[in-house]
Amino acid sequence: MANTQGRDIFPPSSIIFLLLQLLSWKADFSVSGPGQPVLAMVGESVKLRCHLSLNISVKDMEVRWYREELSPAVHLRKKGKDVPEEQMWQYKGRTTFLMSGLAQEQAVLTIHNVMVFDNGTFHCKFKDGMASAETTLWLRVAGLGSEPRLQVRAGRDEGIRAECTSEGWYPEPRVEWRDFRGQTLPSTTNLTVSPTGLFEVVSNVTVWDRGMGNLSCSISNPLLQERMETKSHLPGECSAPFDLKISEHPRHSQAPAP
Ligand SMILES: *[C@@H]1O[C@H](CO)[C@@H](O)[C@H](O)[C@H]1NC(C)=O
Ligand SMILES: *[C@@H]1O[C@H](CO)[C@@H](O)[C@H](O)[C@H]1NC(C)=O
Ligand SMILES: *[C@@H]1O[C@H](CO)[C@@H](O)[C@H](O)[C@H]1NC(C)=O
Ligand SMILES: *[C@@H]1O[C@H](CO)[C@@H](O)[C@H](O)[C@H]1NC(C)=O
Ligand SMILES: *[C@@H]1O[C@H](CO)[C@@H](O)[C@H](O)[C@H]1NC(C)=O
Repeated sequence: MANTQGRDIFPPSSIIFLLLQLLSWKADFSVSGPGQPVLAMVGESVKLRCHLSLNISVKDMEVRWYREELSPAVHLRKKGKDVPEEQMWQYKGRTTFLMSGLAQEQAVLTIHNVMVFDNGTFHCKFKDGMASAETTLWLRVAGLGSEPRLQVRAGRDEGIRAECTSEGWYPEPRVEWRDFRGQTLPSTTNLTVSPTGLFEVVSNVTVWDRGMGNLSCSISNPLLQERMETKSHLPGECSAPFDLKISEHPRHSQAPAP
């Protein structure tokens, strides 16, 4: 009845498990990070800091910054030297590593020219022989887009159509149109993602009341609590016998009409 065949007190799998435990034996030091997400602006630099719990020298330690996988790394430091051969191509030439601190050793990784790609999780791992310790950090990337460009087109019989465009936003922005009384207007917004991951906004409203005065298009970043706004004066009742364009913030980068 009892099936004892092939059963050892220590099956091979548990011996392997024990060996693995020994190999990954946790160090008598630990690593800590900022604990809360670090905010980084697109195009700027950001510093990611990790501290060692003990006042021990890290000169001979291996310090590895990584994202999902250990290798290739975001940045790898071995015996006081950077190892660019084991770096993700997305971070080539974009990182600077610094060890500093008197009371506590601190590893500081600067990421230059922050991109949408950098949003998310990072780990920093210290390794001293067999012992290692690591922690996790979070980067939240934010992009404040360009000042909105407003174009107003007024036909004779149709309503006045206004279009608002802007780019360089991250994460997804909020768009709001208001009339001169400050009341929001219903609009149609089309968000597209650029190859770099930033959001582009094209938003339209149609206004039927020509005596309305001013119109504003405001785009805001939910992460930054900041917004960019452009106002436009609407063409009056008797003006505009044919199509009229008003752009309060003309940009010179407009593509020529095909
Ligand atoms: C940390 O260690 C260094 C060198 O071992 C020593 O000079 C320094 O005083 C120590 N700092 C603290 C706060 O213990
Ligand atoms: C950006 O990173 C934060 C944490 O760093 C995460 O909460 C958020 O979901 C990420 N956004 C996207 C769009 O992946
Ligand atoms: C949004 O814009 C993209 C690119 O300009 C276009 O392909 C798509 O049809 C638009 N969608 C709507 C709902 O207008
Ligand atoms: C906005 O209006 C333009 C013409 O004025 C039109 O080509 C475009 O499709 C409209 N986009 C949306 C999102 O309604
Ligand atoms: C429209 O805007 C202009 C300039 O921004 C301002 O002088 C004017 O008072 C505004 N008109 C209304 C009706 O809000």
